[in-house]
Amino acid sequence: MNITIVGTGYVGLVTAAVFASFKNKVWALDINEKQIENLKSGKIPFYEPGLKELVLNAIEKGNLQFTSSYEQAMAETEIVFICVGTPPKDNGDYDLSYVYKSSELIAQYLNQYAVIVIKSTVPPGTNDEITKIIKSKTKIDFDLASCPEFLREGAAIEDSFHPSRIVIGTESSKAKRKLLELHKQIPGPRLLCNVKSAQLIKYAANAFLAAKISYINSIAQICEKIGADIEKVSRGLGLDPRIGDKFLKAGLGYGGSCFPKDTWALISFAKRLGYNFNFLKQVDEINKQQVDYFVNKVVRLCDGSVKNKKLAILGLSFKPDTDDMREARSILIINKLQKMGAKIFSYDPVAMTRAKTILKDVNYGDNPYDVLDKSEALLLITEWDEFKNIDFKKVRKLMKNPVVVDGRNIYDPEKLRELGFRYEGIGRKIQ
Ligand code: UGA
Repeated sequence: MNITIVGTGYVGLVTAAVFASFKNKVWALDINEKQIENLKSGKIPFYEPGLKELVLNAIEKGNLQFTSSYEQAMAETEIVFICVGTPPKDNGDYDLSYVYKSSELIAQYLNQYAVIVIKSTVPPGTNDEITKIIKSKTKIDFDLASCPEFLREGAAIEDSFHPSRIVIGTESSKAKRKLLELHKQIPGPRLLCNVKSAQLIKYAANAFLAAKISYINSIAQICEKIGADIEKVSRGLGLDPRIGDKFLKAGLGYGGSCFPKDTWALISFAKRLGYNFNFLKQVDEINKQQVDYFVNKVVRLCDGSVKNKKLAILGLSFKPDTDDMREARSILIINKLQKMGAKIFSYDPVAMTRAKTILKDVNYGDNPYDVLDKSEALLLITEWDEFKNIDFKKVRKLMKNPVVVDGRNIYDPEKLRELGFRYEGIGRKIQ
């Protein structure tokens, strides 16, 4: 099939590469001309395992092309995916201007019947506005659909080839047939529904996962107060198939470009409908509190003050296997500690380049040991594999004060205490 993908961010680029790998003819379009030039030579604008190989392969086979021209991309297209950004506004709403602008341009260059699919996360009902925009610009027949994306950064390729479900929201049987045909090589259950249901599934899924994380972080608080172990409690919960063991990892709370934004947006969307989504407000509040709780812990373990103390931060990205710094817990934690006078030294396997554009007065090292030298506390923020195998005997000798504050519970408390560290995790027994 001839496909156009508008937007070459995480969702757009992965979607383009995946459909091209099934021998569809794909145009990936972005108004950012520099990004398009880079993509033509296989330069990927972000870190995502496996994506570069997939893109290069599709380019070589002639199935994936990049352009900034709607005229070129739309010439023979049968299905257009809108994958542009929907950044958060100050009031929690989404900024939908890119979605509206791209709809207008798609309509302007529509040559023949096409299915226009919204993949960007938008509030249910946005489709009415998009339909109005398209109809105002063209007389050519089209159908609108919504296929929300459930891929995770860092696991985007695996998630795209083996999705938990494919949601196809459309009121048109022609569009439904075309979209089922397009997805036929991808395994997984299909869920057919109307556009609004599809869009609400996306919001409700992300907000639910965020709620699971805030729930386990609340239970972690109780664990710490009574000397229970959150790792055992979480496992005990997860073994119940009605609860499930995923997204029950206590830590510093959720970050990234989706959970915080989607939670705020659902609260704000519900408010407009006259519903006070108090439940989600608490989910968000607990997520914020988790950062303060961690910072207070660091201060306590540093004997009441971090002023002029060298703190080693391991991990900056919002989670491992990505260089994405959006809503990363590291930013909030570092800002708070710097305000208290701490000297921050940090290392991350891939996110330092991005971090340098966001964080101020941070010293970076070439490896974990670099930043741990003469430090007064190790703060584990992102659970990269590289940090799981640190040589703590070596670290013990390097550090000025043997304090480890483990924001993701990746270390064995007993082992570290045996080596002479003062160790605390999240919701783990304090000694
Ligand atoms: C999330 C969803 O998982 C995807 O299904 C969805 O498609 C995507 O948002 C999106 O809307 O585009 P992502 O933001 O890549 O994907 O990251 P996740 O792996 O879901 O992690 C989100 C945050 O939750 C991270 O900060 C992570 O550290 C945190 N987390 C996750 C926990 O604190 N505990 C857990 O048990 C799981």
